[in-house]
Amino acid sequence: MAEEAKNSGGETAVVPAQSHGNAGAAVGTAIIAHDVVQNPGLPPHRKRVTDLDPKLDKRAERTVYTLFYLSIAGSLGAVLAYMFFPIETGDLWQIRLHTMFVGIGMTLALLAIGIGAVHWGKALMADHESIDERHPVPSDEPVREAAAEVFEVADKESGFSRRTLVRNSLIGALVAFPIPGITLLRGLAPQDQDPVTLLKHTMWEKGTRLSRDLGGAEVGAAIRAADVTIGSVFHVVPENLGDATHVLDEKAKAIVLLMRLDQADLKEPEERKDWSYNGIVAYSKVCTHVGCPVALNEQHTHHLLCPCHQSQFDVSDQAKVVFGPAKRPLPQLPITVDSEGYLIAKSDFEEPVGPSFWERLK
Ligand code: FES
Repeated sequence: MAEEAKNSGGETAVVPAQSHGNAGAAVGTAIIAHDVVQNPGLPPHRKRVTDLDPKLDKRAERTVYTLFYLSIAGSLGAVLAYMFFPIETGDLWQIRLHTMFVGIGMTLALLAIGIGAVHWGKALMADHESIDERHPVPSDEPVREAAAEVFEVADKESGFSRRTLVRNSLIGALVAFPIPGITLLRGLAPQDQDPVTLLKHTMWEKGTRLSRDLGGAEVGAAIRAADVTIGSVFHVVPENLGDATHVLDEKAKAIVLLMRLDQADLKEPEERKDWSYNGIVAYSKVCTHVGCPVALNEQHTHHLLCPCHQSQFDVSDQAKVVFGPAKRPLPQLPITVDSEGYLIAKSDFEEPVGPSFWERLK
């Protein structure tokens, strides 16, 4: 016979008598395992200051709606900043003002909503402990049968399975429906140019001098090979960058890191032996993962580090990926020197710079 016992949580469990050595117990009685750790229950409820003092409750309410009004002001401020500080091509100061004020407005809007909502929840909303019991996820059998019946009736009445032509043409229409939206993406590239070509080519071409990048759209002096000492790193742009219509767009693709290593440390395949000059190598600064600037150089290991997701590239070995999510090496810019000793490009990059895109062959 089965007997009743109290489990550690205080619930009654049915335990078969065999477990206590009673050979005459009913067969098939379920065994309920007792919890090893006792349920500690809920701690005593502590009232908040806003529950105890109506003045503090009022003050919390004022704080919450002030934050929400502040958020509205931030959103309107961002819109006004967008209107009053328009981006003018080439005017970096204007771009900075635009970005800063739009950013401040949006930050204020989001932050104030977030803080206000949290404060509302913590200080004003009803404060009590409740236990949400878990229930089995699937519905019970009658509900499932009823749902299946609804589908069957809908299928019968709509003729979805029977009228195959209507059904298939609907599926076709739904598949075709998003295509115009995708087509609109073409508008992101200038009308008169092939976007794939734009991504594949940079401003570098045979004979373009390598010049220092002074930040923004500013181009510094051309670099002589003699100025590049072992271990040094230069941020480099094409000498004629200022002639571009969209200077910053072109710079984003053409920016290069120039480094000089001890020639004995360079592992260069035969076909790339003439891409460097006296241990001076130039690699795209645009990370092949998602395009952040690869800006950190570890001099003694010759590793370049991308700060976004920590991809590392080995400059001594064709900038191959040695760590991180990037999947291909940084593209190398073939360089040499001109008759005056200035470093020049031998050609454009031989493969597209930056992250992958589907028309890219390499
Ligand atoms: S963009 Fe460089 S690692 Fe992700």
